[in-house]
Amino acid sequence: MSFQVALNFEDGVTRFIECRPDETVAEASYKARINIPLDCRDGACGTCKSLCESGSYDGGDYIDEALTDDEAALGHCLPCQMTPHSDLVLRIPSSSAAAKTAAATHSATLVGIQRHSPSTAEIALDVNDRDALDFLPGQYVNIAVPGTDQSRSYSFSSGPGRRQISFLVRIVEGGAMSEYLAKGARIGDRLELTGPMGSFYLRELTRPALLLAGGTGLAPLLSMLERLTRERTSQPVHLLYGVTTDQDLVHLDTLEGYEDVIPGFTFDHCVADRGSTARNKGFVTGLIGTSTLYDGDVDVYLCGPPPMVDAVRGHIASLGVTPANFHYEKFTSAAVRQTVEAA
Ligand code: FES
Repeated sequence: MSFQVALNFEDGVTRFIECRPDETVAEASYKARINIPLDCRDGACGTCKSLCESGSYDGGDYIDEALTDDEAALGHCLPCQMTPHSDLVLRIPSSSAAAKTAAATHSATLVGIQRHSPSTAEIALDVNDRDALDFLPGQYVNIAVPGTDQSRSYSFSSGPGRRQISFLVRIVEGGAMSEYLAKGARIGDRLELTGPMGSFYLRELTRPALLLAGGTGLAPLLSMLERLTRERTSQPVHLLYGVTTDQDLVHLDTLEGYEDVIPGFTFDHCVADRGSTARNKGFVTGLIGTSTLYDGDVDVYLCGPPPMVDAVRGHIASLGVTPANFHYEKFTSAAVRQTVEAA
């Protein structure tokens, strides 16, 4: 028996390793040829100090100079000493290059193209080595666009438990992936993915959650919701989804379905276009009130274009509320996700 440990590096690269209950995370990492920072290996120096964001473990033996009780209470841990009691997610204080590892590359086959509307498509892929592609719900991969030397970053819209993976694609005039989907894409095409990456992923729900999506920023939240169908959380989870025009709205039926299977899940949506037929016209900020923020006892997950992310952060600050955890990701149509931060 072993547990899965996700090692998230400072550059956004995530590697997954198997760790037995009787071995330390550091031993398992080195067996997987991932050189996480280590010095004494004895719980004395604190060099390996990391942050455990999810899961339970035995912290092992160490001295106060390496890890204080206050730090341990906040989730800091020593991989050279800790042994897992469950799957874990750790933030490692080094780059993947410093740990002599890198994001993995996977080959996949294009098995589906769904054109939701002129502005949004969804692609489905079969990954050749699917069992080797682990990811946390909310993360993304870089996809090399066939026939070009460019790649684009896409968050999984599918949950980690599905064999087939999928991604929402915003159709942008002249965009590399948009042009490929419009002109050259054929079922059966080979694509190459690199990842998973990103620190925008679902943490253990210990309080209410507010999920906010702008446009195709819905994708990582769909992946999170798929995970929640299996976790049976009892925490309230509210999703607000904002788009520019009616044609940008996708997956409303999926969200309605999740209301039936995730206890405590509710959602609402709005369309900025005043000519929309949607019940709510305007921006998601118009739907964020103090009741959705639980006086700050809430974990916020926000994904959208930079102006939307900045507007939401400013709006929440203007309400005088500081969420317990605020995770956000900004995306652009550029090749790489612009910002991935957790505050
Ligand atoms: Fe020194 Fe872990 S390597 S405390």
